[in-house]
Amino acid sequence: MSAGEWVAAILAVAAAFVAGWALRRPAQPEEVASAQPQTAPADSRFDDLLAALDVGAVALDARGNVTAFNRAAAAMFDLTGKAVLGRALIEVVPSFELDRRARDALGGKASRGDVAMPAGHRAHNFSVVAAPLRDGAGALLIATDETRLRELERARRDFVSNVSHELRTPLSSINLMLETVLTPGAESEAYDLFLPRIKVETDRLIELVEHLLELARAEGRRLPVRRGDVDFRELVCEIVETFEARAAQASVRLRFRGEPARLSGDRDRLAQVVVNLIENALRHTPAGGSVDVEVEAASGSVTLRVRDTGEGIPYGDVPYVFERFYVVDRSRARESSGIGVGLAIVRHIVEAHGGSVAVESELGVGSVFTCVFSAGPHSRPEI
Ligand SMILES: Nc1ncnc2c1ncn2[C@@H]1O[C@H](COP(=O)(O)OP(=O)(O)OP(=O)(O)O)[C@@H](O)[C@H]1O
Ligand SMILES: [Mg+2]
Repeated sequence: MSAGEWVAAILAVAAAFVAGWALRRPAQPEEVASAQPQTAPADSRFDDLLAALDVGAVALDARGNVTAFNRAAAAMFDLTGKAVLGRALIEVVPSFELDRRARDALGGKASRGDVAMPAGHRAHNFSVVAAPLRDGAGALLIATDETRLRELERARRDFVSNVSHELRTPLSSINLMLETVLTPGAESEAYDLFLPRIKVETDRLIELVEHLLELARAEGRRLPVRRGDVDFRELVCEIVETFEARAAQASVRLRFRGEPARLSGDRDRLAQVVVNLIENALRHTPAGGSVDVEVEAASGSVTLRVRDTGEGIPYGDVPYVFERFYVVDRSRARESSGIGVGLAIVRHIVEAHGGSVAVESELGVGSVFTCVFSAGPHSRPEI
């Protein structure tokens, strides 16, 4: 059942239990008695339903004091462990918007709308229905947490603008170079100068589109994985070597330390993981910093660690960096930042190999990305 249907169901049931009915709470029998009408005996199945819902429900009496709330509401509005019953809504949930809707409902006017609340370090967005109870007996607030939906909407919006930007830049420069080359009487030097650059920009575009296709395939579980015996230490060492020139150019010390380690996996896909992690580390590490790549083999597991002394990831962003299209702050990357799919692809590949990936990071200190693979054969044949 969707959240909207739950809301409709709750309101329908609430209507059947009308006339000052208030959600029953477990303790304080004398207060329950004062909040409950004599007309409708409480139905324990309804209590169970309310407790099981992930839709928050708060009942108010005619004066706007909280008479009951369910478990979901306690989690959403941070009510757990607080003295809530009998207190005015605004005292326990510090939101003027919610309070305004509650007071409107107490005055007989139902409403539905969004309520944003700061909670912890991430804002929460709730969709709230405020409904008056019959005969002025109070009001019922029904809230659904739409934070995740809002974040996804934001990620999608950002993605469209990031991809458009990523495509427009090389396309404009290709266009400009072609115009120059195609100008009647263009010098042959123009050809020599611009054609190789057009090739570079075209390759960049192809790579970008490949990245997007990879992600789409991984999410549709269609990323082909050809399993074989991989000398992981050698693979990582070779990749580190290919980054040496880039690291030197950026004045970043790139080091590799590896124990002999073998994996059952797809060499190309595993290479993608290593490349993505080193690329990110170099991109976010300023001159003078260092990037350390390590392969460790323990009994039954192989660990890849990419550690940098770069700018780190803000605490609140850490849980989201593996989500597709998540870019922490586009303005901060030393080079132009990407479109936020690299780590999503990394996670898909690692998990398809039966492994796990995690990050620890401290702002201004650096980040450590760790992938742990099982060294033995595993069950999932492909992504
Ligand atoms: N080593 C790191 N140090 C600091 N921030 C990082 C690091 N690795 C990733 N991030 C942050 O996590 C975000 C997501 O990384 P991800 O690799 O998915 O995307 P991207 O590098 O921006 O783009 P893409 O990989 O698609 O080219 C990055 O935008 C960056 O803000
Ligand atoms: Mg990346």
